[in-house]
Amino acid sequence: MYKLFFNLVFKRMDPEQAHYMAFRWIRLAARTPVLRTFVAAALAPRHEELRTEALGLRMHGPFGLAAGFDKNAIAIDGMSMLGFDHVEIGTVTGQAQPGNPKKRLFRLVPDRALINRMGFNNEGSAAVAARLAARNPVFRTVVGVNIGKTKVVPEEEAAADYVLSTERLARHADYLVVNVSSPNTPGLRNLQATESLRPLLTAVREAADRAVTGRRVPLLVKIAPDLADEDVDAVADLALELGLDGIIATNTTIAREGLGLKSAPSLVKETGGLSGAPVKERSLEVLRRLYARVGDRIVLVGVGGIENAEDAWQRILAGATLIQGYSAFIYEGPFYARAIHKGLAARLAASPYATLAEAVGAETRKAAL
Ligand SMILES: Cc1cc2nc3c(=O)[nH]c(=O)nc-3n(C[C@H](O)[C@H](O)[C@H](O)COP(=O)(O)O)c2cc1C
Repeated sequence: MYKLFFNLVFKRMDPEQAHYMAFRWIRLAARTPVLRTFVAAALAPRHEELRTEALGLRMHGPFGLAAGFDKNAIAIDGMSMLGFDHVEIGTVTGQAQPGNPKKRLFRLVPDRALINRMGFNNEGSAAVAARLAARNPVFRTVVGVNIGKTKVVPEEEAAADYVLSTERLARHADYLVVNVSSPNTPGLRNLQATESLRPLLTAVREAADRAVTGRRVPLLVKIAPDLADEDVDAVADLALELGLDGIIATNTTIAREGLGLKSAPSLVKETGGLSGAPVKERSLEVLRRLYARVGDRIVLVGVGGIENAEDAWQRILAGATLIQGYSAFIYEGPFYARAIHKGLAARLAASPYATLAEAVGAETRKAAL
């Protein structure tokens, strides 16, 4: 049904326009009491066995919405209604900014992928903080806040920009993510180098502790799939050294080679980050590598090309406690999150593991024996 609708309507529209249209419907449904109760009952079913505790937070299930879809925190209830058990908003930057010129979002339908060079179009940390402060949640959802650098801020002053966002947003965040892995802000990914990342993460940690007393806001870092293996290891070691709470793996890729992309060469050539099915393999590989290095000491969040419950299950077995998706939501539609949670419950029941927590990293541990 959704596939038919996608082919007849969304596919003929500009991808960004389709995004805003879907967004309006989701928000409208979430504001309509009877409808939202009905939709949530259908799409956000609760499977006792999927209850997840991570980052000191209790969730109904491990699957959530990846950053980038709701940059300005306007659809948290809507996405929760659709069954995403945590919603990561952002990337929010210190200052408001328009992002890159349009067109900046491309669908690679035969590859079940997207290319985007949005460039952190967002209302900025002050506006988003005000919205979160005024929020009167309908559904109890874990809200992650993902922060990044304002484009006009020079790389040397990046830490101050992240600190500004932290000061404004940390108190509204169930967890905070330092995004240093989007390919669409010049120089951002250089911050993944440990010499830059160590002072940045230290500054954000200190700012979060100053801004929020009475609880410790969990801090995670989000990395690119394009890091060399040694750099993945270096980030893992740094995360342990700094007492970080988690790592999100991965963001979009700038790679195009060797991915067997079937879409028109003119589309494949668009600059930006590629997401969806083609990043699946590398994201999984990075996750395995991270788990082999950090084990259960910090929380790993698996994201990148998760299209169905089997993909989600593979991430859990590889070492992810939480999992996220974005691109496949565009192709799969409103039943996406439900299908993942339902399929995960079935896979857990058929597995030798008594709990989801027991399954986390099981395959990676086995491979290490
Ligand atoms: C249009 C678009 C915008 C995105 N914007 C952000 C962003 O602002 N911050 C971020 O950390 N990741 C962003 N991402 C990356 C996703 O959060 C995710 O890491 C990536 O797309 C891989 O997951 P997927 O294959 O399920 O889409 C964006 C992805 C897409 C497709």
